Amino acid sequence: MDETPDDKASMVRLLFNDIAEGYDKANSLMSLGRDRRWRELVARRCALPPGGSALDICCGTGELCLSLAHSDSSIKVTGLDFSGEMLSLAREKIAAADLSHRISLVEADATHLPFADASFDASTVGWGLRNVPDLDATLKEMARVTKAGGKVISIDMGHPRFPPIAWAYWTISRSFVPAVGRAVAGNEPAYRYLHESAKAFIDQRELARRFALTGLQKVTIKNFLGGAVALVEGTKAG
Ligand SMILES: C[S@@+](CC[C@H](N)C(=O)[O-])C[C@H]1O[C@@H](n2cnc3c(N)ncnc32)[C@H](O)[C@@H]1O
Repeated sequence: MDETPDDKASMVRLLFNDIAEGYDKANSLMSLGRDRRWRELVARRCALPPGGSALDICCGTGELCLSLAHSDSSIKVTGLDFSGEMLSLAREKIAAADLSHRISLVEADATHLPFADASFDASTVGWGLRNVPDLDATLKEMARVTKAGGKVISIDMGHPRFPPIAWAYWTISRSFVPAVGRAVAGNEPAYRYLHESAKAFIDQRELARRFALTGLQKVTIKNFLGGAVALVEGTKAG
């Protein structure tokens, strides 16, 4: 039987509730310690105005919310996720960083954002789009809640284009990602899903095309690690 969007959403929510505890450590290992720098770059690319606001969907444990808040002390950030466990870790980290007055968290589904049109100066998503049941609906929602001229940015695993790099990358990550899951989270199947979902997800060129189909303009791609990670950004039409 085919998987319905509701099946996928329930499976993904359970999975992230399950692996929340070891998530940050595993992430840092799998990205070879580079994930923080990528999130900082996303925050800079948002080019938020002083006193501006950003929405980070699929915010998980709040790392990108923190990078956005650290990028300028006048910025307000809203993080949104549907995993209560991921959000509760985010809440602890935000309180420990004394940023609860500038970062608020919302438990909701990324495909139906509970915000009015043009509520934010930018919208971001980190390693989230391949998990949502309806990519185009989610992009449409990100564009809808972003103000004219604001950025919509995704950073996620990509598909290396150069065949020898692609072969090495998929071969290594097929064993490495589940091994990290086993060692850090004691949950190899969940991390096997993360590897498989990255491989099954559209590549960064197709993602950029979907950004453009949503109506976003000036769509660009920036690749890291030979395209294993890719930042795709677009601008909401004025
Ligand atoms: C791989 S984690 C990424 C977390 C974070 N953005 C980061 O940079 O580390 C994916 C997150 O997306 C959330 N998520 C997946 N589908 C979602 C949906 N439909 N609505 C809201 N959150 C969702 C999961 O709960 C999980 O916290």
